[in-house]
Amino acid sequence: MRRVLLFILPILIIVSVAFTLFGFFQARLEEEKLTDDLKRKARTVAESMELSVKHVLLTNDLKNANYLAEKFETRERLQGCAIYDKDGNIIALTKRFADWKEKDRPYIKDIIANKIPRGELEKFKDYQVYSYILPVVDDEGQLLGMVEVIHDTSYVFARLTELWRRISSTLIILVIVIFVLSILLHRQIFALPIQRLTDWFKFFQRGETDEAHPIREKGDLGKLASEVEQAALSLRVARRTISDEASARLEKEEIWTESKLKDLIRAKLGEKALIVVSNREPYMHVVDEATGLEKCIRPASGVVTAIHPVLCACGGTWIAHGAGNADKKFVNSKDKLGVPPKDIRYILKRVWLNKEEEDGYYYGFSNEGLWPLCHNTHTRPIFRELDWQAYKKVNQKFADSVLEELPAKHPFVFIQDYHFTLLGKMIKEKRPDAIIALFWHIPWPTPEAFSICPYRKEILEGILGCDLIGFHVQNHCNNFLDTVNRLLESRVDIEKFSIVRSEKETFVRAFPISVNGHLSKDVKESSVKQEIDKIKKEFDLEGKTIGLGVDRIDYTKGIVERVLAIDRFLEKYPQYKKKFVFLQLAAPSRVHIKRYHDLMAEIDELIEKTNWKHSDSSWKPIIYLKRHFSLDEIEPFYKMADLCIVSSLHDGMNLVAKEYVATKSDSSGVLILSQFTGAARELTEAIQVNPYSIEEFADSIKLALQMPPDEKTRRMEKMRKVISENNVYRWAGNIITELTALRKV
Ligand code: F6P
Repeated sequence: MRRVLLFILPILIIVSVAFTLFGFFQARLEEEKLTDDLKRKARTVAESMELSVKHVLLTNDLKNANYLAEKFETRERLQGCAIYDKDGNIIALTKRFADWKEKDRPYIKDIIANKIPRGELEKFKDYQVYSYILPVVDDEGQLLGMVEVIHDTSYVFARLTELWRRISSTLIILVIVIFVLSILLHRQIFALPIQRLTDWFKFFQRGETDEAHPIREKGDLGKLASEVEQAALSLRVARRTISDEASARLEKEEIWTESKLKDLIRAKLGEKALIVVSNREPYMHVVDEATGLEKCIRPASGVVTAIHPVLCACGGTWIAHGAGNADKKFVNSKDKLGVPPKDIRYILKRVWLNKEEEDGYYYGFSNEGLWPLCHNTHTRPIFRELDWQAYKKVNQKFADSVLEELPAKHPFVFIQDYHFTLLGKMIKEKRPDAIIALFWHIPWPTPEAFSICPYRKEILEGILGCDLIGFHVQNHCNNFLDTVNRLLESRVDIEKFSIVRSEKETFVRAFPISVNGHLSKDVKESSVKQEIDKIKKEFDLEGKTIGLGVDRIDYTKGIVERVLAIDRFLEKYPQYKKKFVFLQLAAPSRVHIKRYHDLMAEIDELIEKTNWKHSDSSWKPIIYLKRHFSLDEIEPFYKMADLCIVSSLHDGMNLVAKEYVATKSDSSGVLILSQFTGAARELTEAIQVNPYSIEEFADSIKLALQMPPDEKTRRMEKMRKVISENNVYRWAGNIITELTALRKV
């Protein structure tokens, strides 16, 4: 529409200006004509009275003079008449012009002197009249007096007003006709064919085979349509070939790699693109507070770490909340952009939330309600009705956004996490043919713990809208099945590990999430080495044993317990003072929630206290780096760390543990891992600790530092094998295999 307006507007302006000018000249002509007419009439009337007035003046017959003056009152458009003596005094005057006498009109003297008639426009009371004065002379040419005819001029104005009214209404009709005609022509010539082409292409994008041709007509648009049709055809053929080749390769390869996952997806999904939904986006555009410049960051998030390599491998669309304060600047008209920015592999579609929605859905219900509900860390969940309403509204918003992207038949949707418990059901209501999986990245609590949630029924019903639900570990699957069994009317099938409710079956499976297993690439070694030297120099780490913690600042991560354990370790084993430094990288998270805000202050204070207690002028035990770090920035820290501590009080999986192991290409280093993480089930060669037991924790640090190098290598190699075999490609491959097995046709 904007474009049409841009096109029509200049035409309308030109037409309006031309028409107004034309009207202006026409009005001027009309005005001149009417005024001439008026003058002519006034002169005729005055001349017709000349004889009678002459007689009145010669006989000095005042009675007749008054009769003559009054007689004019009844004439059309004639307002009045005055008879003057030779000295310019009024001797008779139409009654209603009684005030006329008072008018000062110096030109009367000229008429007396020159005996030449004269017409003038005069103001009388608050209207305009035309006065015509005719000198009356005797046979010798001597002035006897004058006769004045006063005419109404308002009809000239009325005529001109009427003319302007007609000109303007013609102009308005003309503008409307031009406008409507242009819109119709634009629609017929451009909009409809382009709409047809767009619809056809949309069908094609969704994998629908449309028999019809996009546009039939010839000309430029027809040529464009034919080019698009050819490109679409080649793309379809190419996709088909790729899919066949992929199936063949898949049967040969054994280890899960990016290309094996690609092959699996091409073979299983064919032309259908995968749609992933999560709250956290993989790329966030933010304004750097220090420089004021916009930058693109990778948020600290387990979801991002796991899903990004999968989408890089298989393409598709990732729908997420556009939470960066500069995000809107980097999307196209459909709120989409290609990522990674320098090597585009998939589409990121951003969904916008206002502050109220973000507060209720993200900070409130998701992170003050569900997060503590699912983590066994003794933080009380808070459920507010307003947060729940916002949560439902945002789930619907995401559902609508997903529905816009779905291909025509049997689409695959992969939902992430506790932010979207209602999404599966909402999508299924509109698209029952969609095949939907939900992966729950955090623990699932026991039925007793879950049942305190006031919205437990709606949440379970929402989740059961999905066809497949994945958890990190079997224990969470068992808890989920128990919860549904106790709280919802349904049939739980322990053999198939599925739940049947209202004739709909949902499968529950454990898929331990992982990292890509090849985080450390040889080509980067020299640059990483330089980075390590830089860090060591900056923090004076040369010759010291380095411990590392990498976390979002969250009460579930056991950061406080970790600092207490380091404190206890140095108390118990003071010989490690000055020889051991612990680097804590910590990304601030969910800072608008009081619990997180308080936690940040608590950690700051505790680290300060611990450092004060143990430090001397040249050394302090804990270096606390509180900011966001990208994976590239973290890599040198992982590489140089002799020890990595993951001390979560409760964690679905914890990918930091796996990232540390995956990065240790020289098989050095020791991992201290909380027994309450999902990762502890796979990484059995880590030193496992109960982070609540500070004594045990402190001793495990000592154990790690004292461990013989051979033992360290043996353990690390075993853990690296586990991760390279069970990498994120296998995780995604298993989910997609399960998901596609559910395809109904
Ligand atoms: O891994 C669990 C999780 O909640 C993810 O869903 C999320 O991306 C991550 O932790 C980080 O949390 P947030 O996105 O709230 O910063």
